[in-house]
Amino acid sequence: ATHAALPQRNCTSITPPYSALIENLAQVRAHVKHKLTLAEKILYSHLCDPTKTIADGGSIRGQAYLQLRPERVAMQDASAQMALLQFMSAGLPQSVVPVSIHCDHLIQAVDGAKSDLERSIITNQEVFDFLQSAARKYGLEFWGPGSGIIHQIVLENYAAPGMLMFVAFPDSHTPNAGGLGMLAIGVGGADAVDAMTGTPWELKAPEVIGIHLKGRLGPWVSPKDLILHLAGKLTVRGGTGRILEYFGPGVFEQSCTGLATVANMGAEVGATTSTFPYTPNMRAYLDATGRAPVARAADKAAAQGFLSADEGAEYDQVIEINLSELEPYINGPFTPDLATPLSKFGQFVKEQGWKDEFSAALIGSCTNSSYQDMTSVADLARQAKAAGLKTKVPFLCTPGSEQIRATMERDSVTSTLEDVGALVLANACGPCIGQWKRDDQKTEENAIITSFNRNFKSRNDGNSRTMNFLASPTIVTAMAFSGKLSFNPVTDSLPLLSGDSFRFSAPSGQDLPSTGFTPGEASFYPAPTPQPQSDTEIIIREDSERLELLEAFPSHFTGGNMELPPMKVLMRVRGKCTTDHISAAGPWLKYKGHLTNISENLLITAVNDEGGEVNVAFDHDASDGQASSDTIPSIAKRFKTRKQPWALIVDDNYGEGSAREHAALQPRFYGCNMILARSFARIHETNLKKQGILPLWFVDKADYSRIGSGDVLETSGLSELLKGIPNAELRVKVTKLNGQVFEIPTKHTMSEDQVRWLEAGSALNFIRSQMNG
Ligand code: F3S
Repeated sequence: ATHAALPQRNCTSITPPYSALIENLAQVRAHVKHKLTLAEKILYSHLCDPTKTIADGGSIRGQAYLQLRPERVAMQDASAQMALLQFMSAGLPQSVVPVSIHCDHLIQAVDGAKSDLERSIITNQEVFDFLQSAARKYGLEFWGPGSGIIHQIVLENYAAPGMLMFVAFPDSHTPNAGGLGMLAIGVGGADAVDAMTGTPWELKAPEVIGIHLKGRLGPWVSPKDLILHLAGKLTVRGGTGRILEYFGPGVFEQSCTGLATVANMGAEVGATTSTFPYTPNMRAYLDATGRAPVARAADKAAAQGFLSADEGAEYDQVIEINLSELEPYINGPFTPDLATPLSKFGQFVKEQGWKDEFSAALIGSCTNSSYQDMTSVADLARQAKAAGLKTKVPFLCTPGSEQIRATMERDSVTSTLEDVGALVLANACGPCIGQWKRDDQKTEENAIITSFNRNFKSRNDGNSRTMNFLASPTIVTAMAFSGKLSFNPVTDSLPLLSGDSFRFSAPSGQDLPSTGFTPGEASFYPAPTPQPQSDTEIIIREDSERLELLEAFPSHFTGGNMELPPMKVLMRVRGKCTTDHISAAGPWLKYKGHLTNISENLLITAVNDEGGEVNVAFDHDASDGQASSDTIPSIAKRFKTRKQPWALIVDDNYGEGSAREHAALQPRFYGCNMILARSFARIHETNLKKQGILPLWFVDKADYSRIGSGDVLETSGLSELLKGIPNAELRVKVTKLNGQVFEIPTKHTMSEDQVRWLEAGSALNFIRSQMNG
């Protein structure tokens, strides 16, 4: 590999438009009387219309809905498939905002970087070919397999103080980029398409938790321990709907990459994202990663007060943390908020009756593979090697990017780790996302210790009895030389063959390489700001089972009729129905880019309120020997074949959970035109609107039980809504199977724009029609 120094880059496309943002913020300040937190400054400066969105003096945080425009979008290989297929169907020649695509989630770790990469490229060739061809056609930056993990690459290349950026789901750890003092928010694929098509993106203004840091981290204690400690305090739900904003002198003590680790794991407490005021260490990181012009621009913006909270800004809650009092933590198993201080962990293991051993130690991933992390663990490896020690368990290391990998290699970090038994994996997600083929595959209870961020059951090796304990990379590494869960490297010694004993000195690493980063293999780097090549053919194999072009959904309205066509009720869904019930994950994930195939999972874990069975629906028009009951997707398919529009009756909070757009695409694909709910989860309701499904709410929740499968529903009042009468009353006429007829009142949350989406058949149809004049 080449070890050339990292060149300074042309930063025009990656420098936030600070003057415009500061100008927007000044307009917002005219309406908002309170002092602003940093999170608010970044959000409000990205409002689509800073003069209108916020009502004079009204409450904003936790109340108002903000219409935002991000500056950039990134997506990984799994989520990019459907997002790009949708973008293609909008018919735009290029994306409105810069987009990067990262091939990292589909690479399986087996026996080392080179062979793992070669094998995964063969298995996923058609997906990578598709993504690359779409990137070329639309001028998107394509980071191929082996280039690194999305969040690390974003931090190294695109993140900038004060920026607002989206990363498409499933990407909870997007906030990693907050290490550079920005807001990076994980969104659904459909939201990424909004950004790419210039459609405003809506966010309920989050509350802001202020975390005041003072003091200084002691030896053995790292930023990872800060967030492990905080996860214990806040629990996995404590940050939901909130932004974590750190402030105080302790922030300035941390490296930029250390802050990125803290921001990364804000996801573990459910936070929307995390951020920090601009610091000299952020400036140094921008300089070291070839982005001096961004740093200079950020310096100027900071001097105007844009990159930190106003003096005296108020938070919705303040948490005080004295860094000097922290010790290393080990969190888990099975939940990231079960935080145990290292000094108490041995006792905890004993009390639980677990075997005092673990079967693998893993470091790296997007959370903890910075130069600082890697040089710190290399320091421990060097100490152990000098004492004649090797790791006691398999010790796997995942570099976050090619830049990190190549710099580790140049600075002998890799060889130092390999000397004590490390296996260096490809620059990809690998074991962190379950892409790990253990050669010692376990089925029994066992423990692993990792520097990753998530530790849900089955996540890493598919064994629900593998307990994953989360710790800092240095604690994981030191413990790998013992193989015992009760080993505390701060206080305990290891026996040597000579009969002596050995104790580690506290690790010391370097924030940034003194001779600069080296980029590594040039072929991994996309051309900056690539131009769209409109004549590029998008590569999708005719017989592909994983990819399929999307066909535009048809309009509901024909022959001047402005009401939905009469719909049959497919089923009445009982109780909790999350996006996971509507579109299951697991083995179905490989069909994310193939709507026909993935639709075979529609509602397969939903409960039918008529009979109480899972994945059963009824067909009241069955003929030709067809059974009158079948699986839900089978009945939906029959309706599609008969060109029979249909509707669903659903319970409270329908579509809660993730922002998975497949949960809206799939019913629409089978011909669902309307969903009548006791209530909707807001993000899913918006996704339904985007795909041209009308979400209606019962005015009287008791009406839910009055409608069943096979009943026919007809809307009235929709034509008035389509004509622009905002308060049009929407009613639904129900014709029961037995011929009984009645009408029920309903309500809706459709905005003017969303009414146009319904009229066009989908938001993308609407965008395409605008394009074509
Ligand atoms: Fe990949 Fe794990 Fe990070 S899946 S993006 S390395 S959280």
